[in-house]
Amino acid sequence: MNELDWLKIKQMAIIWVKEASNQLKASLVETIHVETKSSPDDLVTEMDRKIEQYFLEKIQTHFSNHAFLGEEGISEEEYVNEDTIWIIDPIDGTTNFVHQQYNFAISVAVYHKGEGKIGLIYDVMNDVLYHAVKGQGAYKNDERLEMLTDVDISKAIVGLNARWLLNGDKPYQPILTHLVHKVRGVRSYGSAALEMAYVASGRLDGYISLKLSPWDFAAALVLLNEVGGCSSTIYGEPLAMLKSSSVFVGRPQFHEAVINEFVHRR
Ligand code: IPD
Ligand code: CA
Ligand code: CA
Repeated sequence: MNELDWLKIKQMAIIWVKEASNQLKASLVETIHVETKSSPDDLVTEMDRKIEQYFLEKIQTHFSNHAFLGEEGISEEEYVNEDTIWIIDPIDGTTNFVHQQYNFAISVAVYHKGEGKIGLIYDVMNDVLYHAVKGQGAYKNDERLEMLTDVDISKAIVGLNARWLLNGDKPYQPILTHLVHKVRGVRSYGSAALEMAYVASGRLDGYISLKLSPWDFAAALVLLNEVGGCSSTIYGEPLAMLKSSSVFVGRPQFHEAVINEFVHRR
């Protein structure tokens, strides 16, 4: 497949994302059934499953030889042997969707032979689509995103969930605390995909999580690659497309400086 093919697939995916977002917006006036998963703060709604099912059906209809990996595990197919895989988070920021009806996203990525080809992150309530095809630049709606320049750590704004600072016996916690002291500001929006799209578009200088899954970061990595953003685990290891891990993304030199601190004190 060439770049034109990926662009065409991206256009199809954008139509599906917009249709899915209409379903999400319509559901906000209904009573949504909410369940918990691994912990009381890990929420899932019937809309997470409905939207994932919607994408699965579209992909099975139009790309029957493509594999599918979604957060809610709707697909029963084994995905690891396929060349092309769609990695989807039907609602990133489910807690925001339930409690705030704001700051949640649909995240869609297509990877081919392990390489990110398409990344879409749609901020549903603000109607802002972050999108990229490998080698074709990254966009925020129609605006092409600029290459990321550097920022001094003392002027950086970082996305971080305050929970990672609790239970201070983990080896990374003193470094995180140190980082929080050193940067200009810390923000927490409750949607990892959106926060990484903010890094790609320069609104945040970095984003850190101690545990994310492929559906949280797959699309964001495609965007970040197009603007020269760096991504790795907090210890600088490459992110594996199909594995959960810590994640740190940011402007290049800022990323390097922070990784050095983590590695140094590991
Ligand atoms: C969560 C959100 C949240 C992040 C969690 C994710 P979900 O995704 O991105 O901001 O801190 O680690 O699991 O469950 O809303 O799709
Ligand atoms: Ca998620
Ligand atoms: Ca989700």
